[in-house]
Amino acid sequence: MIQQDPGALYPDHLAVLCRRAETALARGGFDHLVVPSGTLHYQLFDDRDYPYAVNPQFKAWLPLTRVPHSWIVFTPGKRPQVIFHQPFDYWHVVPDAPSGWWVEHFDIHVIRAPEEALALLPKERARCAVLGEPQSTLGGWVPDNPAAVVDYLEYHRAFKTPYEIALMRQAQVLGARGHRAAEVAFRNGADEFSIHMAYCAAVGQDANELPYGNIIALNEHAAVLHYTELGRRAPQPLRSFLIDAGASAHGYASDITRTYATQGHDEFAAMIAAVDAAQRQMCAAVRAGVDYKQLHIDAHLSLMGVLKDFGVIRVSPQTALETGVSAAFFPHGLGHLIGLQVHDVAGFAANEEGGRIERPAGHPYLRMTRVLGPGMVVTIEPGVYFIDMLLDEVKQAGHGDSINWDRVDFFRPYGGIRIEDEVLCTEGEADNLTRPAFEAANG
Ligand code: GLY
Ligand code: MN
Ligand code: MN
Repeated sequence: MIQQDPGALYPDHLAVLCRRAETALARGGFDHLVVPSGTLHYQLFDDRDYPYAVNPQFKAWLPLTRVPHSWIVFTPGKRPQVIFHQPFDYWHVVPDAPSGWWVEHFDIHVIRAPEEALALLPKERARCAVLGEPQSTLGGWVPDNPAAVVDYLEYHRAFKTPYEIALMRQAQVLGARGHRAAEVAFRNGADEFSIHMAYCAAVGQDANELPYGNIIALNEHAAVLHYTELGRRAPQPLRSFLIDAGASAHGYASDITRTYATQGHDEFAAMIAAVDAAQRQMCAAVRAGVDYKQLHIDAHLSLMGVLKDFGVIRVSPQTALETGVSAAFFPHGLGHLIGLQVHDVAGFAANEEGGRIERPAGHPYLRMTRVLGPGMVVTIEPGVYFIDMLLDEVKQAGHGDSINWDRVDFFRPYGGIRIEDEVLCTEGEADNLTRPAFEAANG
């Protein structure tokens, strides 16, 4: 897989951001864009801080995820400014002095205390759009997040620049490395917590840095969609393993899921292979002009085809879709936009003015309803699960005959299957960002 130098791509990325910001400011009637990086949050009645999460609007501009109390100021026609907080502090490690591919493109003002930013921010607060959390307030600089500005920026953030794609490929490489280590740990009989630790060690990131909490699920645990318990004892016998885990690269996320079976569980292994083959076809369907809602519906039909082949449902995929049977086996969305956030913003955005495209009726968990365009990166994460709560609802709705319950009993101990990749929509064929990273991790 070709890794591109983000430094060489950054000037064009910055030019795109400046153009977008200029238009967004004009729409909102502002002269300056002001973006605080955010501050620490403290636990109630305690002096412990929560893990710091940088303002995504800030890390869109800079590959900096650990500089609270810093600010970006952009004024059209001028060099962008960074107010960079590097405190005098002997209790904590302070951020390194500004360095890297971005520094030559900014005027940088290093401050030693948060309040020093006040003298450096634009003179007229009223002429500024301030994008941030209320907690970032400094003096009168209360973030207001004007909708005209935020909606425009978020709508366009769905279209990644080549710089962003390069960083997202890095996040794939790291994630694939972790997934490989986790699979080895699973094959050696490790418990969920130990698999998690093997993953973190291979990626070189812990829970504070990973883009979301690892889902490491053995056997029936795979039927809990967001299972994050990390059991300390491996179940016996060990039958299956679902891992949904990503990595971060300069603020960009990967979000990858794989499912495995232990030796001797051939029918479940065959079902994994069938879902994997179906998932590859869904990935290949990511093309400019395609409605993601349609991909989601198509995924239902494809997955129900797999369940029909394995004798789990007795009705046609179309009937399973229409009666809600398919939603009991595939009870989440096909995927979502991804980038600076795992579930990236603007998955429902109809346009740059803030319009919304609703989900299709009966699909309450779909997170992406837009038509695909070049530069968008989406996850494709079909899954089938054996969840008693949802299957009971099928019975109560009078569709129990649609299901072969003996086959449900057979597959229930495996929990479920999910396969998840990131796919870049291009002018031509889909570009799967995840699979080449796995192939490279094998080598
Ligand atoms: N890891 C959460 C998701 O796949 O959306
Ligand atoms: Mn995931
Ligand atoms: Mn996902």
